[in-house]
Parts: sequence; structure tokens; C-alpha cells
Amino acid sequence: MTNLQKKEISSQKNFNKFDWSSAYNNVDIELENQPLPLSKGVSIQELNGTLFRNGPGILERDGQWLHHPFDGDGMITAIKFENGVASISNKFVRTKGYLEEEKQNKFIYRGVFGTQKKGGILNNFFDLKFKNIANTHVIKLGKNLLALWEAAGPHALDPDNLDTKGLTTLNGVLKPNEAFSAHPKIDLNSKLSSELVVTFGVQAGPKSTIRLMEFSNSGNNSGEILSDRKDTFNGFSFLHDFAITTNWAIFLQNAIDFNPLPFVIGQRGAAQCLKSNPNKKSKFIIIPRESGIYKGQKPRVIDAPKGFVFHHVNAFENNSQIVLESIFYDDFPSVGPNENFRDIDFAKYPEGKLKRSIIDLKNQTSEVITLSEQCCEFAMVNPTRLGLQSTFSWMACTERREGNAPLQAIKKFNLLTKEEIFWSAGSRSFVSEPVMSPSKNPSSEDDGFIFIIVWNGERRGSDLVILDAHYLQELSKYELPIAIPHGLHGSWINA
Ligand SMILES: [Fe+2]
Repeated sequence: MTNLQKKEISSQKNFNKFDWSSAYNNVDIELENQPLPLSKGVSIQELNGTLFRNGPGILERDGQWLHHPFDGDGMITAIKFENGVASISNKFVRTKGYLEEEKQNKFIYRGVFGTQKKGGILNNFFDLKFKNIANTHVIKLGKNLLALWEAAGPHALDPDNLDTKGLTTLNGVLKPNEAFSAHPKIDLNSKLSSELVVTFGVQAGPKSTIRLMEFSNSGNNSGEILSDRKDTFNGFSFLHDFAITTNWAIFLQNAIDFNPLPFVIGQRGAAQCLKSNPNKKSKFIIIPRESGIYKGQKPRVIDAPKGFVFHHVNAFENNSQIVLESIFYDDFPSVGPNENFRDIDFAKYPEGKLKRSIIDLKNQTSEVITLSEQCCEFAMVNPTRLGLQSTFSWMACTERREGNAPLQAIKKFNLLTKEEIFWSAGSRSFVSEPVMSPSKNPSSEDDGFIFIIVWNGERRGSDLVILDAHYLQELSKYELPIAIPHGLHGSWINA
């Protein structure tokens, strides 16, 4: 082990909440292909592609703050590399709601996570309209870039200039504004196509229907749907993410109830009406992929461990077992109606922990083990290993070993040995989801680059940091000419 690998983060570092919350401001400029000079480190010649990121770009209008940043209109940042030379663009997704609210300079829609229109309950009573905010993820499907928000349809964007083309039905595959997950999986190991986009949409209610779709994302039929199935299950389903293996799509139906009354009468946002039900069991819903050997068979439903999951890391098949790695919370974390998201007490919220579920399809059982007690989120594996067993995962984590806190470090975790190494953004900086891209001619699974948008609390601005995926050594840093609020998900797309 090198000194770098041995480097540990300190056990109980404190953070400054103002440094963290200073990221939450409106983005008031849009750039188009502005040259981005290197601030520190080296220019990486082999980089040819674009890092796309999505996240909320409007946090406040006319003095009214959102109740939760997840209610903020989506803004896409694109950092393009041509033989290592970088340029940056950013643009809001021109959704119907964004354009209307820009014009009126006030919130005229309620937000799913608790943002209410001004005027109290009376002005929100029975207003069940919602705004497709297109703020969660950005992927490429066929010729389009898609800005995703799970409760409604995808917005198609021009990948070159980020212009919004509009809501898309994906050539008639979706009904107008049909729910379309913000967590598609890019499968690079399928026999059907060298690149597949596997994704889903949920119609939730007393019974929930999952629509599982697989699209080609390469060759002449890029963007075409190759398989499509619908399965209906008992109970309300809040499904933010899923995982795939060669033959299965795996969902975790959290044991929560949805009581819409406070939403309907204007007291709360829809997501604030979700509540864990300790008398219910979480379920794994395991649907055969139409591209796999169990095509046409019925889904399997198996009791799942306790806890709440937003994000899965990866899954793979091991004989009659499915091994699934996920970030588990003890309970559903929600910002209460009287809390200010910019001043939350981190200690009051459950922390995310990396756990492994072993699902036995033969015996219809599952068990879970905790891989790390340290708070983490936004974990990923080398994209070429998605659906297969992988050795390494990269994730955002806290500086401290125990308890909740903002994410300030990147961890590389060995899923086989539990060895871990860290890169710390520093005491005044905060990380977002790391995006791993393999090297052009990789010599190992961890040969590649990690892209991170960092909120630099000292400079009150955003940096792009590129790490070497093997040692987590900092290779390049670009101080960005825009200040990007803490964001959600993104993709690296090779040129
Ligand atoms: Fe997510």
C-alpha cells in the first residue's frame, strides 16, 4: 500500500453549516461553450467527451424559498473535453412550469417535497397540479439528451447547446407526460445491443404498476425500444431507483404508506405524506428482463430487510442468488413542514449506510449485511461492470466515521475486502455524486477517472475536480465560472 492509499480521513471533523448552505442560491447566468482554463494539476489529453450534470438551479423566487431543494427547476451543466481541453455550458430546462414562473417571477406550482404557493392553506387547498421540474438526472438516449424527473415524462434536449426541444414521448413509446424513472441503467453487457438503456416508470396507487422498458442506445436503431412489459403489484410503491443483472430487474418496495390527505387539503407536499409503516414488510420485486433467459416469466416477490432505500449501487447473479448493494436509511428522511432545509440539524436525520442484500430466489428469502457504518450516498461502480460482480465502488461520504453530516469526501470501497481509501475535498468544501469513467484502454477495473463537482465554501463557487480512480489522487481542478447548488445526478458521455 502506498502512503496515499493509507491516508485516512479524520474521525470527527466538524463542518461549517454556512459554508454548506451557501451553495443554495439561484443560478442567474447561462453559458454556452465558454473556454474553461485549468486551475490546478494537469490537462488529461485522453479525455474526449462531456460530463453532464443535473440539479436544482432555482431555490427562491421573489423572496420565497423552496421548502426543499428537490423542488427546484432543473439546470443542466455540461463540461466538454476535446483532447483534454475543457469548455463549459449551462442552461435551464425550459419546462412549461419554469417558463411560466420565470414570467411571473413567483412560484405558481406546489412542489412535491413541500413547497407551497404563497397564501397559506387556502391558496393551496385542492390544487393538485404539479410542475415537471426535470431536475434529477441527465442521460443520452438515441440522438437526444434527456432531462429526467421520475413523476413525469422526459424532456429532450439538444446535447450540443442544451436547448430544450420539449417533452418527448420517445417516438410514441410513452403517453404524454407518463412517469419515467430518473434512474435508467446503461447496460454495456447485453447480447441484444452493445449499449442498452434499461428503465422503468411507476403508476403508484393501492396497486402499483411497473413498466419495464429496454431501449437500444447504439447502432442504426439507437433510441428504439426493444422490450416493454408491465407488472402490477399490491400496495403503494415509492420506487426511485432499481438495479439490473443480466437476467433481472430488481426493485425494493419500501415499507411506507402514502396518505394524500394533507397534500390534498394544502398542508403538505406529496412526498411529505410518505410515512414508514413498521407493521409492513419491505419487498423485493424481481422482474425478469425480456432480454434475459427468464423472459415472459412472472416476477418474484420476496420479503426484504428493514430500512429505506433511495439508491442502489449494483447487483449481480450468483447461481440462484442475486447480490444487491444499496444505500440503506433507518427511516425515510423528509424535511418537516416547519424546518428550513438550509439550516437542518444533520444529527436528526438518518444516515445512509452501504449494505449488501443476498436474495435467494430458490428459497424465496433475503438477508442483509452492513458493509460500512460510515454515512455515504451516490455510489457507483465502473459502468462496464453494471449488472456484473464488481470489485470497486466509488461514493460520496462524510468526513466523520459515525453519524450524519454533509458529504465532504470521496471513498473508493473494495466490495470484496472492504478496504477503503479516501479523498477529502477539505474542511470548507462539499462533494456531489462521483461519476466514474474508465480509461480509454483500461488495464484494470479501477483504471479511469472520477469526476466531481465540488462546492467550494471558501470561494463560494463550484469546482470540477478529476481524480485518478485507482489512487484517488487529484489530477485536475477547474474553478468554474458558475456557482452550482448542491446537485443530483449526471453522466459522462464519450465523444
Ligand atoms: Fe436519485
